[in-house]
Amino acid sequence: MKVLILGGGGFLGQKLAKALAARRSLRGQPVTALVLADLAAPAALDAPFPVRCVALDITRRAAVDALLQAERPAVIYHLAAVVSGQAEAEFDLGMAVNLEGSRNVFEAARALASNPVVVFTSSIAVYGGEVPEPIEDWTALNPQTSYGTQKAAAELLLTDYSRRGFLDGRGLRLPTITVRPGKANRAASSFMSSIFREPLQGQEAVCPVGPEFEHWYLSPRRCIESLIHGAELKAADLGANRCFALPGHTHSIGAMVEALRKVAGEAPVARIRWEPDPAIQRIVLGWKARFNPAKALALGFRGDDSFEENIRYFLEDDLQPAA
Ligand SMILES: NC(=O)c1ccc[n+]([C@@H]2O[C@H](COP(=O)([O-])OP(=O)(O)OC[C@H]3O[C@@H](n4cnc5c(N)ncnc54)[C@H](O)[C@@H]3O)[C@@H](O)[C@H]2O)c1
Repeated sequence: MKVLILGGGGFLGQKLAKALAARRSLRGQPVTALVLADLAAPAALDAPFPVRCVALDITRRAAVDALLQAERPAVIYHLAAVVSGQAEAEFDLGMAVNLEGSRNVFEAARALASNPVVVFTSSIAVYGGEVPEPIEDWTALNPQTSYGTQKAAAELLLTDYSRRGFLDGRGLRLPTITVRPGKANRAASSFMSSIFREPLQGQEAVCPVGPEFEHWYLSPRRCIESLIHGAELKAADLGANRCFALPGHTHSIGAMVEALRKVAGEAPVARIRWEPDPAIQRIVLGWKARFNPAKALALGFRGDDSFEENIRYFLEDDLQPAA
């Protein structure tokens, strides 16, 4: 089967591509080809099947249609997005990519007339406002950011396109994925990785919130397992609600720093500077931290056992030696 990853040059897209290359199969069938598409053509990847890397802007409807018609993938991972901080700073871009671009992808999938599996990475940013916690699977979507609003709107489309039989959608509301490798990005949550990543790599990092700040997390390793599991589930097992929260864990920054100390000692902890940033706080303090991901747990998704695991996975999978 052919698999397409939109946003295939990004953090999760690259990890997913490597995981597919390692496991060689999906939905009980061998992967015969992989297409990675992103704004700039992603780097080539070693794999036991052909990998095509293409440049594609999902805001260009005709280009999305042309790629899908040419490739006819059985499974489409739609990971392409403008992340939270940038979608807040650049409203029109966020709307164009996260909402209209998503609709372009769903329409192109519909035009295949083959009911392809579409795995869409939504976010817990679809929740916010005045609701009791924990957030249940049935809690009303009430985003308080433009990013969350765009993801919520795309979720509704994915569910309706699935109900109509245009595509077989699975919308996974990702927790914040920590510890993210590479460089800081424009997600408002970026510090939730950089305060661990940079100190573990010998650099200083700034924490813009206090140690009491709580949030909902998942490691990259478990996230990729979840993206694969999300594609493998049978449509019949998903029921009518095609979008749901993935399992994660609520941790305070203080407890996460303690986990860092336990795994890596005092030196990285001493490299964290605590400097409140009201602009970041305005976004992240509106996010919800407590979830009851009952549907995902019943469907066999799993989170991490402790934040120490997240730190260890980073050391095993992603640590970059200091330059
Ligand atoms: N990482 C997290 O903590 C997290 C949490 C919740 C949801 N998500 C979602 O998961 C997905 C992947 O996130 P990530 O962390 O890998 O982000 P990322 O920024 O590393 O990857 C997103 C990719 O989308 C691409 N992209 C942006 N605009 C595009 C366009 N117009 N056309 C084609 N490609 C475009 C970017 O170039 C980038 O490579 C996103 O949909 C994101 O919203 C991530």
